[in-house]
Amino acid sequence: MKLKTVLAASTAVMMAGPVLANPQAEVLHWWTSGGEARSVAVLQEQFAAEGGTWTDMPVAGGGGDAAMTALRARVLSGNAPTAVQLKGPAIQEWYEETGLADIGAVAEENGWADVLPAQIAEHMKCEGEWCAAPVNVHRVNWIWGNKQILDEHGIEMPTTWDEFNAAAAKLQEAGVTPLAHGGQAWQDATVFETVVLGIGGPEFFQQALVDLDPEALTSDTMKQVFDQMRTIRGYVDPNFSGRDWNLATAMVMNGEAAFQIMGDWAKGEFLAAGKEPGTDFVCAQTPGNGFLYNVDSFAFFNVEGDDKQQGQALLARLIMGEDFQKTFNLNKGSIPARTDVALDEFDSCAVASAEAMNAGAQDGSLLPSYAHGMALRGAPAGAITDVVTAHFNSDMSSDDAVQQLADAVANAM
Ligand code: GAL
Repeated sequence: MKLKTVLAASTAVMMAGPVLANPQAEVLHWWTSGGEARSVAVLQEQFAAEGGTWTDMPVAGGGGDAAMTALRARVLSGNAPTAVQLKGPAIQEWYEETGLADIGAVAEENGWADVLPAQIAEHMKCEGEWCAAPVNVHRVNWIWGNKQILDEHGIEMPTTWDEFNAAAAKLQEAGVTPLAHGGQAWQDATVFETVVLGIGGPEFFQQALVDLDPEALTSDTMKQVFDQMRTIRGYVDPNFSGRDWNLATAMVMNGEAAFQIMGDWAKGEFLAAGKEPGTDFVCAQTPGNGFLYNVDSFAFFNVEGDDKQQGQALLARLIMGEDFQKTFNLNKGSIPARTDVALDEFDSCAVASAEAMNAGAQDGSLLPSYAHGMALRGAPAGAITDVVTAHFNSDMSSDDAVQQLADAVANAM
């Protein structure tokens, strides 16, 4: 039994009314871009409004790689933060390594099981006990377009990769950068997984990037995926290397590029800048069908002291609160994890996301994002990303890429 801290006692005190303790939380997260910062501020404000003291520990770096390195350093020095933005199988990996606080009492008192889709709830559990609280559902497989550029060039949002290539070639010919991309490994991986889904379809995605089936990894379909990645490499500007994702979003916003392939946290950037979907920018699923989900969540390390434990219980309760889930997600670009939050105030992209998620849950095309740590544990995910990014940044052939992919995955298991 690794769930050392049971938060039931402190929750019971909190539920009973005013308390003397001062809930404390040191919160490690990577939400530092415009839209992200606006979103996490909602939680800070609600925490403070309930008497909590929030110590912010932001670690910049999209996708959270730097944050996860910082987390490891803190845990190794015996000083884990009270709350950590943690998601997917990394939650269970940390649970196995150090244990995590049991937030079951908060979950039960607030009926989480009744309002979360089963697939999401499953990610929040460690050996059957609640050990993380979900804030949202991001969809990864989105393509964003600058409306004015597309209209000027008579281009529709592409529904196949061939259409994308044709549109990109036309734009390039006209002197427009077709794709705003940030050359960081996780962004390469983000584009790659949408191509896997689009070219291979949902079943292939499952076989290749969830089940890690060697036949799928070395298949002709996977070769076509790498061919398409090579084609995409020809549509980015010369300064793409190392660029942050939100700067790539800004390029689309400012008319310096036509498209970006990125999860809907990019919409948080457009909205923070006062841009309107349908007027200033357009959203569409990346060519192909399916829904790659990326659920942000918080987990709580075992810490000493009533104040900190009350802080954890308070955070867990707030995160799953209806009001927080609405306001946070209106800013973040995602949709609520809770199924009972009305979407009337959400924009058309969010409504489309919710519809696609529900359809995906019915027809089996609701799939975990590998690039955002939902599908795989750290070692195989990292092995795949290394190959994807090495291929993107070299002239490696697709034949070599699939072989390296299969070898890297085999070594990581
Ligand atoms: C994702 C995360 C999002 C967003 C993005 C860019 O992995 O789930 O919430 O922050 O990284 O930082």
